[in-house]
Amino acid sequence: MRFQRSLLMSFFRQCKDRTLVFAQNVGPLLFIRELFSNPATTGAPWPSSRQLGIKMAAAMPVGGSGLIVELGAGTGVVTQALLDHGVEPERLLIVERSQVLFEYLQKRFPQLRVVLADAADCRDFIPASIKIDAIVSSIPLRSLPFEDAETIVSQWCKLAPHGAWLVQFTYALWGPLRHLSSRFAFQDSAIAWLNFPPARVVLFKIG
Ligand SMILES: C[S@@+](CC[C@H](N)C(=O)[O-])C[C@H]1O[C@@H](n2cnc3c(N)ncnc32)[C@H](O)[C@@H]1O
Repeated sequence: MRFQRSLLMSFFRQCKDRTLVFAQNVGPLLFIRELFSNPATTGAPWPSSRQLGIKMAAAMPVGGSGLIVELGAGTGVVTQALLDHGVEPERLLIVERSQVLFEYLQKRFPQLRVVLADAADCRDFIPASIKIDAIVSSIPLRSLPFEDAETIVSQWCKLAPHGAWLVQFTYALWGPLRHLSSRFAFQDSAIAWLNFPPARVVLFKIG
């Protein structure tokens, strides 16, 4: 009887350990954990869909030699779409401020430069001499405190003073984008209806 009980306990312990290991390697589960601990900075109920990733990447012109900075990469759906779109890994710089998602991104994309940082501090790790061709942002500008979003966006003009592409997604399906529309030149937009919830991808030109 005692032997059976200890066998059962050991089985449950193993199940628990394996479930924990599994959860640490599954992007959507980590994302949901982040959502509960930091709802405003996570800013979405679920990771971006493949369709949203493809639409964001498609807005990126391929070619060029400058850096493409992805801000708020989360689980890496947009990152993967950028690679699939033909962006060379050496041109990508991935920025994520959640420690858990940063570690996940490092494991998922060992070939990329992934930085654990706040997008508000880009100037600290991107030297002024580096040319930036594009900023691809999943930063939840609408759910962040207004001042924090302003601080992040106001940097983008300094990061890419000579004109660069900016792609941002938003759950606001129409109307101007707070922080962006008054600053940058609108180029194009598309809606990813299959995303949860549907999202609009907006392309701007900086500078
Ligand atoms: C809407 S989610 C990104 C979804 C992502 N495309 C995916 O598929 O998982 C926003 C992400 O931005 C990150 N984030 C929010 N504020 C940030 C900041 N100031 N700097 C860097 N990352 C930030 C969050 O941690 C979160 O991973």
